[in-house]
Parts: sequence; C-alpha cells; structure tokens
Amino acid sequence: MVQAKTLGQFIIEKQADFKYAKGELSRLLRDIGIAAKIVNREVNKAGLMDILGNAAQTNIQGERQQKLDVYANEQFLAALTSGGECCMVVSEENEEFIPITSAVSKNAKYIVAIDPLDGSSNIDVNVAVGTIFSIYRRVSVNGAANLADVLQAGNAQVAAGYVIYGSSTMLVYTTGKGVNGFTLDPSIGEFCLSHPDMRTPESGVIYSINEGNYINFPDGVKKYIKYCQVDDGQSQRPYTSRYIGSMVADIHRNLIKGGIFIYPKTATSPQGKLRMVYECNPMAFILEQAGGRATDGATRILDLAITDIHQRSPIFIGSKKMVEKAEQFMIDTAVSSVC
Ligand code: AHG
Ligand code: MN
Ligand code: MN
Repeated sequence: MVQAKTLGQFIIEKQADFKYAKGELSRLLRDIGIAAKIVNREVNKAGLMDILGNAAQTNIQGERQQKLDVYANEQFLAALTSGGECCMVVSEENEEFIPITSAVSKNAKYIVAIDPLDGSSNIDVNVAVGTIFSIYRRVSVNGAANLADVLQAGNAQVAAGYVIYGSSTMLVYTTGKGVNGFTLDPSIGEFCLSHPDMRTPESGVIYSINEGNYINFPDGVKKYIKYCQVDDGQSQRPYTSRYIGSMVADIHRNLIKGGIFIYPKTATSPQGKLRMVYECNPMAFILEQAGGRATDGATRILDLAITDIHQRSPIFIGSKKMVEKAEQFMIDTAVSSVC
C-alpha cells in the first residue's frame, strides 16, 4: 500500500525550497495544523456538547459570536502563543492586534492574521465552516511587534491557507509556490496530501453571491448576474448558482470546480462585508497561486493598501476569465453612468 504523505512530512520537504530557511515557517505551519485538528474535533462534536449557540458576547464588529468562534480563537491563540515562531496575532475576534511578548516569541519573525471560524452562522445547522490564516514577515526589526507589522499589503504575504471543516476536513495552503491540499485522516489524526498542486479552471459554470441583497448591489453586479442567467449554449449559460454562506466552503468548491464568488459593496455596506487582512488577502493569495484571480472589481486585492486591521473590501474571486468578465461589467457600467 502506498503511504500518504503527511502535512508534517510535506512541510519539511518543502523547507528545502527556501534558501536560508531555518524551519521557523515550517514550525509555524505545523502549529496551525495542530490547532486546526483540535478545532476540528470540537466542530465535529458540536451537536453533542453544550457548545452550540451564541456566546454571551458580540465580536468587535457587532456581529453575533457563536461559542465555537470563541473556542477556535482560543485554540489558535494558544498554539501561536506557545509555538515561539509568531510575534503577533491579528484575529477577527479581537479588536486590537495581540503582540506576543514572551521571551521565546518577542523576537520571532512572523505575524499571523486569522479568522478562527469562518461561516459561524452555519454551525447550528451542520453546514461546513472554516478557518482562514495569513502569514507575514514582520517589518520591525526586533522587540514587541507594532501596527506597521500588520498593515502590509497582501502581496507581502509569506504564506496563507484555510481549513474547511466539511464532509471531510481539509487544510489547503500556499507559500507562493503553488497550492497543496491535505485531507484529515481521522483514523491516524494526520492531514495527508490528497490534492497536490491544486489548479482552478480558467472558467467555470458556478456563480456564488448572496442574491438576497440584489436590490442593494451596484449596477455592474446586477448586470453580471443577469449575464450569468442568460441562455447561451456556447458559454454554458445559464450558470449554476451556489451559495453556502461560508466563504471558505464557497471558494473551496469554486476553486476545485471553477466558478466565481462575489461579495460586492452594497448600498448598506459601502465597503463590502469581508475583511481584507484575514479573509480577502489570504483567499486571494491562494486563488492566484492556483491560477485564479481576485479583485475588488477594479484593483487586484493583493495590491490594496491596508490602513486598518479590520478593513473591509468588496471581492470578486475565482476562475480568471469569470472574474475578468465581471470586472468588465463593473467598468462598462461605471463608464455608462458617467456618459
Ligand atoms: P464570519 O463567520 O467569519 O463572520 O464570516 C462570515 C462571512 C463569510 O464566511 C461569508 O461568505 C459571508 O460572511 C456571508 O455573508 P452573508 O450572510 O451576508 O451572505
Ligand atoms: Mn469569516
Ligand atoms: Mn469568523
């Protein structure tokens, strides 16, 4: 029987690709993988435990926080704090960035931004949720990390990944040399390489957007949705609409099958909903590395300046040709409204 390569083995093997690598990034990725397994265990038994439902608090953006959000945040923070390779964490669940000032960590090279539990409104109904992470090299030289360390554009990411807690649990990550996916084998408790060198199709037939917000969408998005729904055999339209409401799950499906995921600005959320640092940037890095594209409708997500750790942005992400087409609708509509 062929032995599957574990995440740990793969990370160590890949470390050799990086000149001068001392293993810090490898250890950081390993720490994240361990925390993901702990969170996976809890997500899997959520229905059995008194862990379902809302925690008696809201997160700093006023959104309902579920108990597992809090739990996942604690697990990742604990793993990153004790691992010694991370000098700062930015989390969706914490208003301020968290410098790690212990003797082992304060001079560490890396900072981690994390959405510990993505799609948390789906927990109560047994639908896939995820974790998203992004890793940067600090820009400050030494000592306590500061705000400038995290206000870096997405194009400075060293690594990014997500975990999907779905019908099986997968960890997908990139260090800028392609994308690899690992499926958790529960019988041995290891992530095993199952999706080497993931590539997303250039085009697809799935569009994913919360159409309930249609009335508040920009005209370009409305027109693109209508385009998706037109009957045109040559371009395989009408496309299929699929929307789970967990960014990780929606983008994971589209990455594999080909498709576009859009969370635009709306009349009520002029900056969009999704957060740059721990949602848009890591997913954009992964999709680009898989051959896809991610923009805010005009500008590449990874080139957008970051001024706030919880900054939001509209996002158009997925198969290259589909994203380009949607952008064209945004541009054409903007031009026609000026004329
Ligand atoms: P989170 O659970 O981390 O707050 O993220 C939820 C996000 C994202 O996962 C999803 O794509 C989007 O919110 C869904 O928003 P709508 O319910 O507005 O469609
Ligand atoms: Mn999220
Ligand atoms: Mn979240």
